[in-house]
Amino acid sequence: MSDEAARAGGAADEYEIVAGAIFRDGRLLLAQRIRPPELAGMWELPGGKVEAFETPQHALERELAEELGVVVRCGRRIGVDVALGRGRVLRAYRVDILAGEPAALDHAQLAWVDADDLEKFDMVVNDQAWIPDLLTELRRL
Ligand code: C5P
Repeated sequence: MSDEAARAGGAADEYEIVAGAIFRDGRLLLAQRIRPPELAGMWELPGGKVEAFETPQHALERELAEELGVVVRCGRRIGVDVALGRGRVLRAYRVDILAGEPAALDHAQLAWVDADDLEKFDMVVNDQAWIPDLLTELRRL
């Protein structure tokens, strides 16, 4: 990257954010954010930032261990890439729980939602692009 790009906020801001779609018994796990204030109370697929030298899969497994207290295995992609600007991209993956029961360690609460309920939840804008794919998956289960 050029010095000019660095000054413009290019590479330092270019990172991937990963989120996990956990399905069980025909339902999807949603998590209610507690921060920042403008997103508090809204629902998301849990996840977070991929750190340097981490694969997206390992980052998601780490994030879900931290946020939900579960051991997971990251599976295939679901939904579209969501461009967040300044080179940041948000991607969702299907995730299987290997051990543990999800707990709201870093969220206000968790909810298991079916296809009928999903559209009643106030999803964060970034995650709304995935709703059609999540509904397709829920209706297939
Ligand atoms: O959860 P955390 O604050 O670590 O997430 C880092 C960034 O990723 C935030 O800007 C958050 O809005 C975004 N994010 C998102 N959708 C998710 C998970 C995180 O847009 N499902």
